[in-house]
Amino acid sequence: MSTRERVDEVASAFRERAGRAPDGVWWAPGRVNLIGEHTDYNDGFVLPFAIQRGTLAAVARRDDDRLRCWSREEGGPEEAELAEIGAARRDGWAAYPQGVAWALREAGVAVAGADVVVESDVPSGSGLSSSAALLCAVGIALAELNDGRLARSAIARAAQRAENVVVGVPSGIMDQTASMLAREQHALFLDTRTLDAEQVPLEVEDRELQLVVINTRASRRLAAGAYAERRAACEEAARVLGVPALRDATPADVDAAAGALGDVVYRRARHVVTENARVLEAVSALRERDFGRLAPLLEGSHRSLRDDYEVSSPALDAAVEGARTGGALAARMTGAGFGGCAVALAPADRVRDVEREVRAAFAAAALGEPEVFPVAPADGARRLA
Ligand code: GLA
Repeated sequence: MSTRERVDEVASAFRERAGRAPDGVWWAPGRVNLIGEHTDYNDGFVLPFAIQRGTLAAVARRDDDRLRCWSREEGGPEEAELAEIGAARRDGWAAYPQGVAWALREAGVAVAGADVVVESDVPSGSGLSSSAALLCAVGIALAELNDGRLARSAIARAAQRAENVVVGVPSGIMDQTASMLAREQHALFLDTRTLDAEQVPLEVEDRELQLVVINTRASRRLAAGAYAERRAACEEAARVLGVPALRDATPADVDAAAGALGDVVYRRARHVVTENARVLEAVSALRERDFGRLAPLLEGSHRSLRDDYEVSSPALDAAVEGARTGGALAARMTGAGFGGCAVALAPADRVRDVEREVRAAFAAAALGEPEVFPVAPADGARRLA
């Protein structure tokens, strides 16, 4: 379906539910992280890109303070008075739009009531940031309808705040920033401490390469508790090392403190500091369009996440191994892990082989059917109509 057709569809879904036309239709994408995993809550470096899948939000302002939200997948309306939404957790999918309305108000935007209809084609819970897409689509819509001046990075921060405080998920800033700032044919090199961002060319077609996502479709049931546990281990490591965050430690610092850290915390910290170094190298490889140099960094990232950080899974490992057997230059899990997606970089003429070998690897390990699809670095959030 073309973008035009999807916009018309969500606008007519809005008319059916709200009984009037939307003021506009906005869009925000999901993301794939190329490299820099579990570094964003350590003040470290990340290198994500946005994908063509995301969330559409048709929105109209109201004259009162009510927020009425519908989701074409989840139903609705979910209604709330803006003044009732506070710094407390809320349940269900509507916590996302409600949370971002609250966080924008906290950021100084005079958010008025609104009717909101959202629709998404990011598989939820797949590690492609369906939640950031939802937060940012509604966030940019409410920000632009109420006060056009809020910077994109400030909308990303509000989206993160909504997720942390109202949804109750302790995520970092990577996903929301990628959704707001990404550019077509680029990866976003983000320093999560300073929020300095640089667009780094990721022009794979020029080299007859293709980025491929492998969605394991495996449940991420364990993810929430394990994510918080990893964060806590990183904080402990920083405390033992006497630094504000693991961003401030080198691999040599971590090695020198191995005894004091203890085996598990040592390996968690080693992942983070080596991953930060891999991101910096990956950025320099991409600036030179040197995919041969990028590939071993992606592979090293996966191994480190599997062995040191222990957030991979049998399905993610099968995806990575299958992709390599099929001719990919490199593959790695992407996102928080424990299921979700892997990303592969493959010669364009080997994409079919990659898909075949991944399916074979899944069948051999008695795993469910994966979903395999090409992706290209896309633009970030924007108004479409
Ligand atoms: C999730 C979080 C991000 C980041 C990744 C791991 O996607 O939302 O902030 O921590 O996991 O890199």
